[in-house]
Amino acid sequence: MAQPGIPKSEAAKIIEAIERKVREGLAPPGVHTSNKFGAMAAAIKELYPDIPRGSIKGKYMAAVRAIGREPDWTQTKPLIFPDFPIPSVPTEKLIDRLAEDFERRYAAEKARKWYKVGVRDKGPIAIVWFGDPHLDDNYCNWPLLRQHVEIIRKTPGMFGANVGDSENNWAGRLAHLYSEQDTSRATAKQLVQWFFGESGVDWLLIIFGNHDMWNNNTDILSRMERGGAPIANWQAQFKLQFPNGREGKIWASHDFPGNSMWNPLHGPQKMAKFTGDCHLYVCGHKHNWALYQSEDDHRSHTYWLARARGYKYVDHYAEKLGFGSQEHGASIVSVFDPEAEGPGFVQCFADVEPAADYLTWLRKRRGV
Ligand SMILES: [Fe+2]
Repeated sequence: MAQPGIPKSEAAKIIEAIERKVREGLAPPGVHTSNKFGAMAAAIKELYPDIPRGSIKGKYMAAVRAIGREPDWTQTKPLIFPDFPIPSVPTEKLIDRLAEDFERRYAAEKARKWYKVGVRDKGPIAIVWFGDPHLDDNYCNWPLLRQHVEIIRKTPGMFGANVGDSENNWAGRLAHLYSEQDTSRATAKQLVQWFFGESGVDWLLIIFGNHDMWNNNTDILSRMERGGAPIANWQAQFKLQFPNGREGKIWASHDFPGNSMWNPLHGPQKMAKFTGDCHLYVCGHKHNWALYQSEDDHRSHTYWLARARGYKYVDHYAEKLGFGSQEHGASIVSVFDPEAEGPGFVQCFADVEPAADYLTWLRKRRGV
């Protein structure tokens, strides 16, 4: 039965009596007493001889409530230890923090789903999709890469996007492969910094591929994103918004799931058929190139599939596996003409130079 409130002075007497019983050797609650009263029952029985046994606990609780503390049970212990502060975050606070972290992380993820990139330029523009550069590899085709960077630098309306694997970034059981290349890890970082920060390319997007992500390598680069080109793990989904209101929907990914020995664009084709209405599905990763343009007959929608070959021009490991090596398509260029309807809205090229010539001709034709 619930006990009515008791005055503080009475409660203090009860608690003191219990503590005295504890000092006399009677057991605290939870300790077996062989049918004898424990400290709590003995003290309360002494103060209230007529109290029924069933009301003892209630009287005790009323005293604890009134005085605001329990008896000091430690008086029964043979050794008294310091009460160390706990260094970890209290669990309730930890859960609050995790809930807040989740809200923030989830919002950040959702903001990247079909984000919008405003294009200020009123004319046609081109995006050079750099295939896997592997800048520090002994067989990175630097003459070609430098030529492509130079073309972008001097062609108005041309932007760069990187589909991933900027460096080898060997990790784990592959770390020994640094001994087989001339560039150290530090030199690799220097090259990546030049590519994204000093080469003069106007970057639209930087994607991390599997090589970039090993060793948690991407943390520092990711922090450089603010105010600059989006940096994405593995893939980016976005819309170019042109001044005349047209939208170019792009899904760029280091690779899309799915393989076929007959069709190097099997993965992106799957995505195009099953999921959407993008104008361009573009990837890299497999170190071969291919292009495909078609019109989805059910959606009346024209789209491109593209895979860029990348700049690693000799791969002894791939040779052992029986793969050949292509000569072209290191980067794929997509030219967007916001004035054109149908297939002319996007044109893709497997070579950067003719793409730059086409863009320049098209911009002139559009009066830009
Ligand atoms: Fe790669």
